[in-house]
Amino acid sequence: MSQPKPVRLALLGCGTVGTEVIRLLHEQADDLTARIGAPLELAGIAVRRLGRERGDLPVDPALFTSDALALIKRDDVDVVIEVVGGIEPARTWLVEALRAGKSVVTANKALLAEDGGTLHDAAADGNADLYYEASVAGAIPLLRPLRESLHGDRVTAVTGIVNGTTNFILSSMAATGAGFNEALEEATELGYAEADPTADVEGFDAAAKAAILASLAFHTRVTAADVFREGMTGVTAGDMASAKEMGCTIKLLCIAQRTTGPDGSENVSVRVHPAMIPLTHPLASVGDAFNAVFVEAEGAGPLMFYGRGAGGRPTASAVLGDIVAAARNKLTGTRAPSESNYAELTVRPIGESLTRYHISLDVAERPGVLATVAGVFAQHEVSIATVRQSGRADDAKLVIVTHSAPDAALAATVESLARLDIVRSIASVLRVEGGAG
Ligand code: NDP
Ligand code: HSE
Repeated sequence: MSQPKPVRLALLGCGTVGTEVIRLLHEQADDLTARIGAPLELAGIAVRRLGRERGDLPVDPALFTSDALALIKRDDVDVVIEVVGGIEPARTWLVEALRAGKSVVTANKALLAEDGGTLHDAAADGNADLYYEASVAGAIPLLRPLRESLHGDRVTAVTGIVNGTTNFILSSMAATGAGFNEALEEATELGYAEADPTADVEGFDAAAKAAILASLAFHTRVTAADVFREGMTGVTAGDMASAKEMGCTIKLLCIAQRTTGPDGSENVSVRVHPAMIPLTHPLASVGDAFNAVFVEAEGAGPLMFYGRGAGGRPTASAVLGDIVAAARNKLTGTRAPSESNYAELTVRPIGESLTRYHISLDVAERPGVLATVAGVFAQHEVSIATVRQSGRADDAKLVIVTHSAPDAALAATVESLARLDIVRSIASVLRVEGGAG
């Protein structure tokens, strides 16, 4: 009996994720062959620094090259795996591969969120597969459920913790009372935070993931530029203590919702920001560097996805799943589901998003202060849900939680409060989600 022809892979990148892809391909070679019906074989590995020390990787050193494009163009390459990251040259490489009919597996959230449309168009042109499970929430099988399993349903909301670094920091602040800098230092020492944590703590990483999730959930192209983003560097130990007093915690949330505009038209709201959520919320107990995503669909109801959102091996697990799917398709002549963007919903500006605020104010303690403050809320048509006051001689602290209102009205309320001479300082402003308050 003749041996089935191997499916040949070009691996672009051999860093944290790429090395683990190589190890898993080696360790599970026999099982993968049995599952696919043909062996997987590495045709080449493109890296930036050919001379870099790579430990005892189970591959022939002759496979390494610094010319990724030449590797992609080789006739004996069936599937291109991109674990390099960044916009260019990754976009040029992947478009080249897809247009040539080669399947692509990528973990590149930045590229998919900035210009996923170009990749999807190239996949359609080349009749090729584009898989990217590892780009959001690492090991958690999340994109395939949104892209396939839930295609008979109508997703109404996707709410998640999709950044492990910031979840570690916020969980540590909640557990120990530490401030942001102290918790970031701990995250860096333990290897969770990168040397430059900007993309994580300022919410850029989560915003890229939010764009990918919203695109899949709502059959609409959403890019990172469409996502409202606010980082979590402003969350203080005081905010966390205040959250605790209210039976809440603070998480950096990615929130994508199907919404209805004032004219009755359907649109979507996609945002990333820190938010107070009640301790009873399913996302409140997601600690350490774990990720979790809560999906709500009309038929299915609530669904929760939980697991490791980062790290070489967990991310490589998701990459391998995509490689198996792409290889099977090659052998059977079938294709991955193509992009579904028919709904073309408009992304609503943040000002129109309905949300609630938790506002902590230091005010003068004298008659009429509460009435003046309440008047500012009324002037902006923002309804107050609760007020707590604690006094200290001629100073008082007011903690106000609002009912749901357009974000623009809430922001204008805070601006007006800041201009009052009875308001000594606005200690914190946090959005409130999930029934907290
Ligand atoms: P690394 O920085 O660890 O590795 C990047 C790899 O790309 C290195 O091997 C590097 O080569 C290679 N490379 C860089 N530039 C070029 C180039 N011009 N030509 C050829 N090779 C190049 O990144 P990660 O493994 O951490 O991340 C890879 C991708 O996976 C990114 O898109 C990231 O967002 C995504 N991802 C990562 C996760 C994680 O936990 N790390 C989780 C989820 C997704 P050299 O080794 O020579 O420097
Ligand atoms: N920096 C990201 C995180 C890696 O902390 O979650 C996974 O995308």
